[in-house]
Amino acid sequence: MSSWTITPQGKPLRGTVQVPGDKSITHRALIFGALAEGRSTITGYCRGEDCLNTLQAVRALGIEIQEEGSDRLQVMGKGLWGLSEPTSVIDCGNSGTGLRLLAGVLAGQDFFSVLTGDSSLRKRPMGRVVTPLRRMGATIAGRKAGEYAPLAITGGNLRGREYVSPVASAQVKSSVLLAGLLAEGGTTLTEPLKSRDHTERMLQYLGVPLQIDKLTVSLNGRTSFQGASLAVPGDLSAAAFFLVAGSIVPNSEILLPRVGVNPERTGILDVLIQMGANIEVRDSRIESGEPVADLLVKSATLRGVHVGAEQVPKTIDEFPILCIAAAAAEGETRITGAEELRVKETDRIHAMATELRRLHVPAEETQDGLCIQGKATLRGGSFGSYGDHRVAMSLAVAGLIAQSPILIDDVACVETSFPGFLDKLLDLLTNSR
Ligand code: S3P
Repeated sequence: MSSWTITPQGKPLRGTVQVPGDKSITHRALIFGALAEGRSTITGYCRGEDCLNTLQAVRALGIEIQEEGSDRLQVMGKGLWGLSEPTSVIDCGNSGTGLRLLAGVLAGQDFFSVLTGDSSLRKRPMGRVVTPLRRMGATIAGRKAGEYAPLAITGGNLRGREYVSPVASAQVKSSVLLAGLLAEGGTTLTEPLKSRDHTERMLQYLGVPLQIDKLTVSLNGRTSFQGASLAVPGDLSAAAFFLVAGSIVPNSEILLPRVGVNPERTGILDVLIQMGANIEVRDSRIESGEPVADLLVKSATLRGVHVGAEQVPKTIDEFPILCIAAAAAEGETRITGAEELRVKETDRIHAMATELRRLHVPAEETQDGLCIQGKATLRGGSFGSYGDHRVAMSLAVAGLIAQSPILIDDVACVETSFPGFLDKLLDLLTNSR
């Protein structure tokens, strides 16, 4: 099992970091590229394992994808009905997005397919997509009555439905919208709080008409669309580690060019700025239907805040690194209404509370969040990633301000989203004078 040792150096972080392409948008670009008529060109995509698993899944469904250099894909879409029955089980690895979105696509296809994933993904709830997809007419079998993968799907003949999702989840919303695109009639999805809207933006960019009314999205099924150029921005969730590192390591200054700043994703910016962070959002523009900007972070004194339920969906993947910001901040940080964190790649509430206490940061785990007493001196030692890429990267950032070295076990999981993360982080130390 691979591990990292981070030795605090007392040096600032300085330089420019190009973060990987947005993971959420890459999954969607591959899937919509497959369902489009003709060629789509995807640039700046994420080469993490999660997205490469979706790429392989799309290939297993009979779609040709050519890789050009390290940064460009050509997807030869065959239209809504051009996919073919896979001859083997499709393995989505660690990716909830890959599995849940593909479930929506496969529910609409007139063939049999099986979706599975690694041991973490096989423990994550799938009933949240299986229930609406069954209501639309798909036959889905799975462990514990379809609550867990593997999921065996006999798709086709879907009918559009109205579905009110009990969770604010872009994966559920996207799975239902993808099935709705393949269904007869209209599909309407309502969510309790607004989740990321990359699927809606990509559909609109591709020319598929959508009606959006606050928390409700509707589309008419069986609307075909042409392939297009899809430029994937940098992943704000990957940039978040540098935003926090640049904030908490004294005298730092880091530029993060071309990062996605979709307003349903920018909770991390709002919360850090509320904590007193010095972050400039420069040159905001739209690329392939998504807001993009350059981010400049300089170190600052942070103070604790309360992050409540309404901020959770747009901050959902950033809580592990926010916990490290909270540890370095003055005063208390409370996170509430975040029970969804318990069903991520690991139970992130439990993982972060446990590892913060190992860092000698007072942290209390609550049913729906955490309470962290900041400005503690972080102590080094041995830590675990829980097989979760975001926990591993967060602990690496903590290592920069700890009193003594930090050893993090089981860091191979970082490959799922951010190959080369540690080199990029440590390179910033060598740029400092
Ligand atoms: C994602 C949605 C979120 C997020 C995940 C990516 C997406 O999950 O945590 O990393 O691409 O739709 P939920 O939809 O389950 O909240």
